[in-house]
Amino acid sequence: MPRHLLNPMDFSVEELYKLMDLAGDIERNPDKYAHACDRKILATCFYEPSTRTRLSFEAAMYRLGGHVLGFSSANSSSAAKGESVSDTLRMISCYADICAMRHPKEGAAFVGAQKASIPLINAGDGGHQHPTQTLTDLLTIHSLHGAFEGLTVGLCGDLKFGRTVHSLINALTRYEGVKFVLISPPELKVPSYITEMLEQKGYEYKEVISLDEAIPELDILYMTRVQKERFFNEEDYVRMKDFYILDKEKMSHAKPDMLVLHPLPRVNEISVEVDDDPRAAYFQQAQYGMYIRMALILTLLGIEVE
Ligand code: CP
Repeated sequence: MPRHLLNPMDFSVEELYKLMDLAGDIERNPDKYAHACDRKILATCFYEPSTRTRLSFEAAMYRLGGHVLGFSSANSSSAAKGESVSDTLRMISCYADICAMRHPKEGAAFVGAQKASIPLINAGDGGHQHPTQTLTDLLTIHSLHGAFEGLTVGLCGDLKFGRTVHSLINALTRYEGVKFVLISPPELKVPSYITEMLEQKGYEYKEVISLDEAIPELDILYMTRVQKERFFNEEDYVRMKDFYILDKEKMSHAKPDMLVLHPLPRVNEISVEVDDDPRAAYFQQAQYGMYIRMALILTLLGIEVE
């Protein structure tokens, strides 16, 4: 059976540290890995738009010496003719060695994995999970801040539909003493299954509306955009979209070493004036995304480089 990555919890804590170590080694010694995936093929099956995830997967495979095929929208695949995800994954398994798939429906990757005979990576399933973004976020925090234990992490914006938020909270509940400050308008609160999980596991959390009040205590501020594509009506989106805008003034109340992360794309929620602040780590975060995906491809394909 191939090993898949469908949920950020699919790797143990030890395996995650190994993956992050490998990503670090790849970043420091790119030549060592330049032919690690010679003759291997990655399929990117994206039923939803993407810039970072798809292109960083493709860049990752090219930098490992492999090849890439795939589609970047449902309309340019036979999904437009009604082909199921299961059948598509069965076919892709004949053409490629590993597949990254993004789909607008929650659970699509889990369905696809039943029929995939190659490793399948969930590159985002609806408002549910985005495990490789979580790997990216963990590597960024680990590289720029050190340990996860004892961090106070603020997650701000659309906590209802933001799949990266759901995955990251899940993943951080494996480290002791992490505290969560969930900053959102009441309409975009994190789903109750997340807060129930935090309570069950005994993690401290609070739900607040004001970013100004929350910012001074944070070690990490994870900003998110309001997920326009998951709203049922435009009016609600317009009302919510500029609820939070992180600017220089707000940053002046933050800790001197607080990291600002964002899975990107950004819309208005971080003013461009923050980009030059040394605490703004979101573009560096996107680059870490490529290294961790290189490490992930090697790990799922069982390729070791001496
Ligand atoms: N962070 C992220 O998933 O970005 P894309 O939607 O551009 O892939």
